[in-house]
Amino acid sequence: MFKHLSVFVAALVMGSGFTLAAQQHQSGEAAYLQRCAPCHINTVSGEGGGDERAPTLEAIGFMSRERVRTSLTSGSMQTHTEGIEPQTFNELMLFLVPDDNP
Ligand code: HEC
Repeated sequence: MFKHLSVFVAALVMGSGFTLAAQQHQSGEAAYLQRCAPCHINTVSGEGGGDERAPTLEAIGFMSRERVRTSLTSGSMQTHTEGIEPQTFNELMLFLVPDDNP
């Protein structure tokens, strides 16, 4: 009985890792895979890419930090960062755009 319960709890914890995460801290990559990859393809792993108009992760990596930040905070992508935890947002920015971009 308890054995079954712990398997159930483990499944619950693993299964909820992504869905519960709206206000919780996530790594930048996890946030990308959850919020962005449905449309933007990850050119390294090949995951995602539902919208062919969306620039790939690699293409976003060539944009300026300012352009990406503006798009995510007040531009066409702002609905996709709604409710994101601030530290997760910073890590998402670092994941998207290398530090040395202007
Ligand atoms: C529902 C599909 C969809 C989702 C989800 C989505 N995007 Fe986009 N994104 C697009 C499309 C389509 C474009 C190109 C047209 C446009 O800019 O509106 C785009 C454009 C962009 C651009 C370029 C903006 C510019 O200035 O040219 C960036 C950066 C971007 N997305 C980042 C993200 C990030 C980061 C996420 C996740 C937090 C995300 N997007 C989620 C569809 C999506």
